[in-house]
Amino acid sequence: MSSNDRVIIFDTTLRDGEQSPGASMTGEEKLRIAKALERMRVDVIEAGFAIASPGDFAAVKAIADNIKDSTVCSLSRALDADIERAAEALKGANSGRIHTFIATSPIHMQYKLRMQPDQVVAQAVHAVKHARNLCGDVEFSCEDAGRSEIDFLCRIIEAAIDAGARTINIPDTVGYAIPHQYAEMIAQLLNRVPNADKAVFSVHCHNDLGLAVANSLAAVVAGARQVECTINGLGERAGNAALEEIVMAIKTREDLLGVHTRIDTPHILSASRLVSGITGFPVQPNKAIVGANAFAHESGIHQDGVLKHRETYEIMSAESVGWNANKMVMGKHSGRAAFRARLDELGIALAGESELNAAFARFKALADKKHEIFDEDLQALVSDTLSDETPEHFKLVCLEVASKTGEVPEAKIVLSVDGREQHAESQGSGPVDATFKAIESIASSSASLQLYSVNAITQGTDSQGEVTVRLEKAGRIVNGNGADTDILVASAKAYINALNLMQASAAKAHPQVADI
Ligand code: KIV
Ligand code: ZN
Repeated sequence: MSSNDRVIIFDTTLRDGEQSPGASMTGEEKLRIAKALERMRVDVIEAGFAIASPGDFAAVKAIADNIKDSTVCSLSRALDADIERAAEALKGANSGRIHTFIATSPIHMQYKLRMQPDQVVAQAVHAVKHARNLCGDVEFSCEDAGRSEIDFLCRIIEAAIDAGARTINIPDTVGYAIPHQYAEMIAQLLNRVPNADKAVFSVHCHNDLGLAVANSLAAVVAGARQVECTINGLGERAGNAALEEIVMAIKTREDLLGVHTRIDTPHILSASRLVSGITGFPVQPNKAIVGANAFAHESGIHQDGVLKHRETYEIMSAESVGWNANKMVMGKHSGRAAFRARLDELGIALAGESELNAAFARFKALADKKHEIFDEDLQALVSDTLSDETPEHFKLVCLEVASKTGEVPEAKIVLSVDGREQHAESQGSGPVDATFKAIESIASSSASLQLYSVNAITQGTDSQGEVTVRLEKAGRIVNGNGADTDILVASAKAYINALNLMQASAAKAHPQVADI
């Protein structure tokens, strides 16, 4: 295949994905996801929006400094200060990219930017030139291209390529496009923009009508050679095109599409689980590729067919995306060296000996309660160890819950609040409710509970429960996570983690708010 047959996979889980309400991640979590993306051989990792906050800057910088095999990209509005901040964060990158954008649709130009089309073109050209002076690899996006006029798009894209952009992105920002119409738009741009051959055309589709993946694939058929996507389809509102679906559609239907990616697909499932665990956004069981039922056959006829010849009902193998790689790793007799080696194999790098010791102590405690420890257990355990890095204003000391048929459940809790123990007890409509009320009677956070979810990390009743608690206060949303074989303890840990995150998280700028 020629290089023109390769589709560049641009992952924006850490930037657009993080724009999902409640999906904010710590710098350490972002670095862990970036490493998983690198391992999967993602071409470009959009690490964040460097100017949004000091934390975002630090996360982009840490990813740029540590990731060597993928290009690391920072988003910036078409503003000098944004572009300079992005360039600064990307200084240590082996291969860095500045991604600058401005809105091009009549509705955005008139109401959001309050700018004339000529001014928008001038601003875009200035931004691309400024970015090119600071970084050899510049991508330009026409925000809301899906609702922009084709003549105006041709004009601004030609000018951006002349100014030095080497990737031109055509986002369907509001998820409005329909596959054949979006494909026609890409085909027209490739035909009509005179210098189109000097840039890679990229697509970035949102899923408001459930068409993000279909639109992206239609655009590839029309000649787009970069697809912007996220793990599990995370992203603003209904999300972005799901990386795993794009990659597996291209791989499975290479016969029809005639293109390929360089993604190492057996790493897909672990990346999906990592993102789901960190963000607390569960994957629905019937989700393509990474859902628990994606390769499960219920009907007897199907089971019989698959046993006789797998391809009767399966168009790709479960192993090709990482299923069944769920090795039983260790038990309570496993030593520290084996523990460290397995973490290395999973691509989990702990910062130092003290983190390793803390994680190993948790592993031993878990192995006492649970017979077999799987990779997923290790990932949850490490997440738990690392979430200890969030400044712990509140800490769980002890939890006692009484629940009996016909009686009102009661929880007694001891929390350490900045090092001082406080006791509380409360009743509730159920044991979890009683636990949260007891915590709140100490914390008095006045945050509202928006989501409570429990997932079994592995199979069996001795599995750890992984709990996510989403709290909202004054427009700020945080997701707390906790894992334990006792789901009430996991619930308390998740609630306390959310309270600590609420204290630690700072407000940050949103890229798509006009500030031109
Ligand atoms: O959806 C969108 O338009 C974006 C751009 C900033 C690329 O995320
Ligand atoms: Zn987007």
